[in-house]
Amino acid sequence: MKIVMACDHGGFEQKERLKQVLLDMGHEVDDYGVHSEESQDYPDVIYPAAKAVANKEFDRGVILCGTGIGASIAANKVHGVRCALVTSVEVAQLTREHNDSNVLAMAGRTTDYETNVEIMKTWINTEFSEDPRHSRRICKLADIEQKEEC
Ligand code: RB5
Repeated sequence: MKIVMACDHGGFEQKERLKQVLLDMGHEVDDYGVHSEESQDYPDVIYPAAKAVANKEFDRGVILCGTGIGASIAANKVHGVRCALVTSVEVAQLTREHNDSNVLAMAGRTTDYETNVEIMKTWINTEFSEDPRHSRRICKLADIEQKEEC
């Protein structure tokens, strides 16, 4: 898969290590930064990555900030993005099966690296269930986006 990564300073250290995990899994990774621990406002760095997923330049996005909260809120502002903030392996599987999430947000400071590796691997390797009830709900998310545009 083609995967874009992005983070603020709170996610930098784990992003660097998680990028290598994705590369070792055989994925193509584009790193939109940050590239150091220098303070950076998460909306500035997350928005371009989320937009690139919405524009289908990438199959998926993997983003981090300290808690994952700011990054996930920023990503979900972009129409077409279904970003899930995940802190457990069980939820990583469920959000792919139920929400067909296309962006994974993780917490670089409040979830340990080993857990995030398992979350990310599970999220990458789990397919959407294609269950009609989940598809219907995802369509309703797109409907909300349309209404919000008016
Ligand atoms: C940065 O200090 C921190 O606020 C940020 O990484 C994130 O946790 C925000 O939601």
